[in-house]
Amino acid sequence: MSVIKHLISWKDWTDSEIEELLNFAIYVKQNRVYFSGHMAGRSMAMLFQKTSTRTRVSFEAGMTELGGHAIFLDWMSSNFSLSDIDFEAEYLSRNVSIIMARLKKNEDLLVLKDGSQVPVINGCCNLFHPCQSLADILTIVMDRPKDWKSTNICYIGVHNNVVNSLIGITAALGIHLTLVTPIASEESKVKEIIDRGLAKKTLSWETDVNQAVKNADYIYTDTWVDMEFFNDPAYKKEKEERISLMMPYQVNMELIKNSKAKIMHDMPIHAGYEITRDVVKSERSIIFSQSENRLDAQKAVILKLLENA
Ligand code: CP
Repeated sequence: MSVIKHLISWKDWTDSEIEELLNFAIYVKQNRVYFSGHMAGRSMAMLFQKTSTRTRVSFEAGMTELGGHAIFLDWMSSNFSLSDIDFEAEYLSRNVSIIMARLKKNEDLLVLKDGSQVPVINGCCNLFHPCQSLADILTIVMDRPKDWKSTNICYIGVHNNVVNSLIGITAALGIHLTLVTPIASEESKVKEIIDRGLAKKTLSWETDVNQAVKNADYIYTDTWVDMEFFNDPAYKKEKEERISLMMPYQVNMELIKNSKAKIMHDMPIHAGYEITRDVVKSERSIIFSQSENRLDAQKAVILKLLENA
C-alpha cells in the first residue's frame, strides 16, 4: 500500500521535495492553460473552522481552473462540530480526491489527516501556513528569477504560524531569513523547524529593526493579532497591549526609507497597525502579486499530492 503524501507542514518534506514542489509551482504558473482539465471529474473538500478570503477563493478558483470542483464546508454548519474528526474525515475521503482544512488547532488537523484516505492540505492552523510560504517564495522567484536564492527576507512582527512555515521553506531552499519578533511565545515556536533553520544557517534574529531592514531584499510583515481574536471583545486588553508593544515595529515610510527592500504581507492587512496604507500602495509593495500567487502555488500542491493517487 502506498503512503499518502500530505502537506501539513514542511517538517514532513525533505529539502529536495520542497525544491521540486517550488519548481513545479513555477512551471504551473508559466503554463496555466496546460493544466486545465487535470482535475476533471475530481472534487476537493474545503473545511473551514476560521474565516478566510484568499485561502477559500484561491483553492476554489484553482480547482475550477484545473477542471475539478471544490466543496465548501463550514465547521459549525457541518457535523464536524458534533462528531469525531477522524470519522468525519474518513467519510469525506470516500467522496473527494483531496481535502483542504483550515482548523484552529494543529492537533485536530493531525486527527483529520489520520482519518483521511486521501491527501490533506493544511490551509492554516495555529502552528503552520505552508501554502502561504510556498506562494511567498514563488513571488520572490518571479521578482528575482536569476538570484532568488541569495536574497535576504526580513520578517518584522509576531512569531506566528506564517513564521514557522517561512523558517521551514527558507531552510530547505537556502534563503536567509532574519526575524525581528519581539513577541515570540513558546507555544508559537516549533523547535524542530527552528533547528532546521539553525542547522542550515539560514535563520537569524535581530532586535534593532532599523538595522535589520538595511540589508533586506524583502520586508515581510503580518497581523499582530491572530484573525480569530482581532474583533473578539474578550481579547481587547491583550490586543491593546500587543499594539502598544509592536507599534515601534510598524512597517511605515520612515522605516523603509533607508532600505531598498520590496514589501510583502500575507493579508488580511490591518492598515495603521503592522503596516501603513501608503506602504501597501507604494511601488515597493509586491503584496497583491504575493496574494495572487496563492492560486498557482496551491494548484501545484494539489497536482503534486495527487500525482500518484
Ligand atoms: N493569507 C491568508 O491565508 O488569507 P486568508 O486568511 O484570507 O485566507
